[in-house]
Amino acid sequence: MCSENSSNILPEPPEELKSVSAELAGKIRKKIALKGPLPFSEYMEMALYEPGLGYYSAGLQKFGAGGDFVTAPQLGNIFARCLARQIDQVSTWLSTHGSGHYEIIEAGAGSGMLAADLLLALEQDHPPARYSILERSAYLRQEQKETLQRLVPHWLEKISWLDEPPAENWQGVFLANEVLDALTVERFCLEDDGISQLQVIDGPEGFEWHKGSCPSAMQEKVRSVISGLEHEPAAGFRSELNASLPAWLKSVTGSMEKGIAIFIDYGYTRSDYYRPLRSDGTLICHYRHRAHGDPFMWPGLTDISASVDFTALAEAADACKLAVSGYTTQAMFLLGCGVENILIEFEPLPDKERLKMNNQVRRLTLPGEMGERFQVMALSRGLDEDLSDNLQGFSFSDLRYRL
Ligand SMILES: C[S@@+](CC[C@H](N)C(=O)[O-])C[C@H]1O[C@@H](n2cnc3c(N)ncnc32)[C@H](O)[C@@H]1O
Repeated sequence: MCSENSSNILPEPPEELKSVSAELAGKIRKKIALKGPLPFSEYMEMALYEPGLGYYSAGLQKFGAGGDFVTAPQLGNIFARCLARQIDQVSTWLSTHGSGHYEIIEAGAGSGMLAADLLLALEQDHPPARYSILERSAYLRQEQKETLQRLVPHWLEKISWLDEPPAENWQGVFLANEVLDALTVERFCLEDDGISQLQVIDGPEGFEWHKGSCPSAMQEKVRSVISGLEHEPAAGFRSELNASLPAWLKSVTGSMEKGIAIFIDYGYTRSDYYRPLRSDGTLICHYRHRAHGDPFMWPGLTDISASVDFTALAEAADACKLAVSGYTTQAMFLLGCGVENILIEFEPLPDKERLKMNNQVRRLTLPGEMGERFQVMALSRGLDEDLSDNLQGFSFSDLRYRL
C-alpha cells in the first residue's frame, strides 16, 4: 500500500468516527482488565477485525483517494493485465495437463477491482471456470459485490464468496495481493538476558507497550529466526513475527491440487527483515494517506500492517509441499509479464491518456514507489518442472537464491 501525502500531521477524525474508535478502545480495555496485558496479535486482531468496529470490519472507505491508502489494483488495470499473462501461462498448461479447466481463488479482494480487471483481461482467451473470493470482512464483501456488479455483471453467476478455503480439490491460481501484511503478528524485544514479548496495556494516556514474559514456543521461534543471521541484532532490537503464517498457508492452499499461488506484498528476505537498522521492526499504520508508526492511535480508524518475511513464507511453503517457483521484486515481475508490451498498445491513445498510463507504470515499477518495496513470490504444486521453474513473471530476475 502507498500513502499519497508526505505530511506527518494526522488530520483529526470527525466526532462520529472518534466515538466508533472510543467504543472499540473500550472493548479492548475491558479485555485487558479481564485477561491482563494483551499479546500484540490479540490487540491487532481486535483493531482490524472486531465485528462492526475493527478497521476492516467497519463501513469506512479504505482504498483510493477518499480512503487511507492506495494498492496496485486501485491505480488502474495494468497490474491486473500483467498478472493475467502469468495466469494465462499456467492455465494453458492446465488445459492439457490438468482437468481441462481452471479456477481462480483470490484472498482479501479489497474493493474487488483486481477481480474485475482480471476477469476482463482473461475472458476472451482463457476465462476461468470460477472466481472465488476468500474474504474475512463482511463490509468488504459487499463492496466487492457492488464493484463486480458494476464492472462485470455478466460474470456474477461464476463468482462466489467463501467463508473457508475450499475442502474439495481444485486446480488453478490462488492470489493474495497485500493480504499477508494484514495478518496479525506478534512483537518481541531482544534483551540482554533473553527475549520479551511486547504486549499492550491500558495506561493513563491510552494504550501503551509493555514488556512481558515471552511464551516458550514464541521464544523458540524468535531464536530460530535470529540465529544464523549474518548481522545478529543486539539487545534492544524490536521486531515482528508472524506465528500464524504456516497454518494459514496450509489452510488456503491445502486443496490446490495443481497450480500456483502468487503472493504480492511489501517485505524482505529474512536477513533484510531482521537487519540491525530496522531496530524498531516494520509495523506501519495508515490513516488518510499518512503513514505513521503508532498502532494505538485511533484504533479501528487506522490500518495496521507489518512487512512480510519472505523467507518465512518459503519455509512455510516447504512444510506444505509447495515448491517455491519464483521470487522477485514487483518491478521485475511486471517486466517479466510484458508490461512494456502493454504500454506499446497505448501509443495510439491521446497524449493525456497515454501520460496517465505511463504514470501508472511508474507508480507500479519505480524503486521509490512500489517497484522494489513490493515483492512477488510464486508457490506451485503439481506442475512440470519445465513450467514451475520458468514462470513468465520471473523470467527477468529470480531472487530465490537470496531467501
Ligand atoms: C490491504 S487489503 C488488500 C486488498 C486488495 N487485495 C488490494 O490489493 O487492494 C487486505 C485485505 O485482506 C483481507 N484479509 C485480511 N485477513 C484475511 C484472511 N485471513 N483471509 C482473507 N482475507 C483477509 C482484508 O479484509 C482486506 O480485504
